Amino acid sequence: MYVAIMGYGVVGSGVASLLNKNHEHILKKSMQSEMELKYILDRRTFPGDPYENLVISDFSKIVEDDEVKIVVETMGGLNPAYDYVVACLKAGKHVVTSNKELVAAKGCELLQIADENNVNFLFEASVGGGIPIIRPISQCLAANDIDEIAGILNGTTNFILTKMITDGMTFEEALLLAQKNGYAERDPSADVDGHDACRKICILAALCFGKHVYPDYVHTEGIRKISLSDVEYARAWGGVIKLIAKAKKLEDGRVSVLVSPAFIQNHSQLASVDDVFNAILVRGDAIGDVVFYGRGAGKMPTASAVVADVIDCARNMNRKRFIAWQDCTDGYVADYLENVTAFYIRATTENAAAAVAKINGLFSGVTTLARQDAPEGEIAFVTAPISEKELNEKLALIDEANIESVIRITNY
Ligand code: HSE
Repeated sequence: MYVAIMGYGVVGSGVASLLNKNHEHILKKSMQSEMELKYILDRRTFPGDPYENLVISDFSKIVEDDEVKIVVETMGGLNPAYDYVVACLKAGKHVVTSNKELVAAKGCELLQIADENNVNFLFEASVGGGIPIIRPISQCLAANDIDEIAGILNGTTNFILTKMITDGMTFEEALLLAQKNGYAERDPSADVDGHDACRKICILAALCFGKHVYPDYVHTEGIRKISLSDVEYARAWGGVIKLIAKAKKLEDGRVSVLVSPAFIQNHSQLASVDDVFNAILVRGDAIGDVVFYGRGAGKMPTASAVVADVIDCARNMNRKRFIAWQDCTDGYVADYLENVTAFYIRATTENAAAAVAKINGLFSGVTTLARQDAPEGEIAFVTAPISEKELNEKLALIDEANIESVIRITNY
């Protein structure tokens, strides 16, 4: 049986090397007598690479070769990955992908095409890198009614926030270090603006709640605006700031999905997830809270998840695997302004007494925060739970201070 890889970047090359390194073991697990890598699709050439002779630039060679039964897509991005994956599924090939952008945008449709063509479309590596999460949710937790899922789903932003919290680096300094270490791209926006985490929570929400959630429906905030002052106030409050992606089932059948920085209490299991590590908390009615933790990115951890899917396809060449969800209907994702939560607010003012009086008049149950070396005129407080809509209306009435920072507070 033959395998092809489309995209010979970090993850694709990890897949090729893992297939070779653990060949015997993988064969045994796959219940196959033979499994060979036949093609690697990439526009580039790789002189000196152990697989340079397998590299092709013509996709049709893969799709027209009946010996290729499993195709690994590690190209990333929507195009041409989407066209290639559709063509492979329609040609009766199983497809394994690590491409979260593809699954978040087209997962429902691709699962349907796979189903119609009696093949599998698997994507364990698309969320949490090497952390097992897609299969545990689909299989091990299948008996549960899952109510909520939340996590730290982006390693780059978690690294940046960790450096801000533990080393006192500014966002800009920590981003530069993340780029130097190879975590963040030169254009870091997919990570720092929350889009990568958004795609991952969309996939998890679809898996947990049975309907596709498109990234465009999800209110997404990144970490660019987090300052060291906010980090200090989080410390004074008893916690840390993390970029949290979460999805929750509402009683009326809709879902609430949100990506944003949040204050997390120090005793939370998510608070101690540092550096590039990811963690995903799943709240089920039978299991309670279960947390999955590990390396959410990187060549070999991600290859580990991709190759596990290859093995699953190889073992089940004529059997469909378990994953499917429906497309979503209008209004399925609730407006984030309906969310009720407590908020941390930081403001600057030239008249602290007037600002505090106004704030206390507008909000009930305010807790004031203090930090060392706060500049004159800086105030910070935590509200009681309030809807986002109501919060915004009240903040708009505060003329006595400039609102510098608004961060949600979680109960995970
Ligand atoms: N850029 C992603 C991260 C890679 O930092 O988590 C893994 O999806």
